[in-house]
Amino acid sequence: MAIVSPSLLSCDFANIQRDVEMLNQSEADWLHIDVMDGVFVPNISFGLPVVKAMAKHAKKTMDVHLMIQNPDQYILDFKNAGADMLTVHYEACTHLHRTIQSIKQAGMKAGVALNPHTPVFLLKDILQDLDLVLIMSVNPGFGGQSFIEHSIEKVKELKAMISDQNTHTLIEVDGGVNLETGSRLINAGADALVAGSFVFNSESPSQTIQALKQL
Ligand code: DX5
Ligand code: ZN
Repeated sequence: MAIVSPSLLSCDFANIQRDVEMLNQSEADWLHIDVMDGVFVPNISFGLPVVKAMAKHAKKTMDVHLMIQNPDQYILDFKNAGADMLTVHYEACTHLHRTIQSIKQAGMKAGVALNPHTPVFLLKDILQDLDLVLIMSVNPGFGGQSFIEHSIEKVKELKAMISDQNTHTLIEVDGGVNLETGSRLINAGADALVAGSFVFNSESPSQTIQALKQL
């Protein structure tokens, strides 16, 4: 059974408390929080005060995905805002090893996200330090995009690297996840599925979460 992390990027921003409470009552394991700065990605989502407001109502693990340049500057701020897991982009970190250590020292689980064009083998010398790798199965920036098929191969390759190195790193996949792509991702070795529009645009988000849990 995979970990399900619904993305609040697709929630109703005028009713964040209501939607977080719905997720608290649902079978969701984590809450996926997408922070975008308009520089690293061509979109601005929300920042620290909104993450803090979400955390105030959340009863589940806050899985924060930073799509921002210079994440090092904000690590402690996100810890204070309520993040339990902090994922930074490989493409945004020059000194990735230092960034990962800082996230752990701040008391959070540390993850690295890979854009669709970034190969999995680049993580070879950092994998043993990572709690999570987030494979982006769309180009980051927007919800509701279609799944990039090659992501399945990346999940398989990463799974093999993890078992070779005997680490406990979790594989999370983000973008275009629905029941069909989700089931193939789990077969390829994914541990956690992020789903935004598929959950929030459905008639019953909590039943959709339940269906993802049953994959
Ligand atoms: C995209 C974000 C995703 C987004 C996924 O940049 O990182 O988490 O919410 O949305 P869907 O599930 O609609 O592709
Ligand atoms: Zn995300």
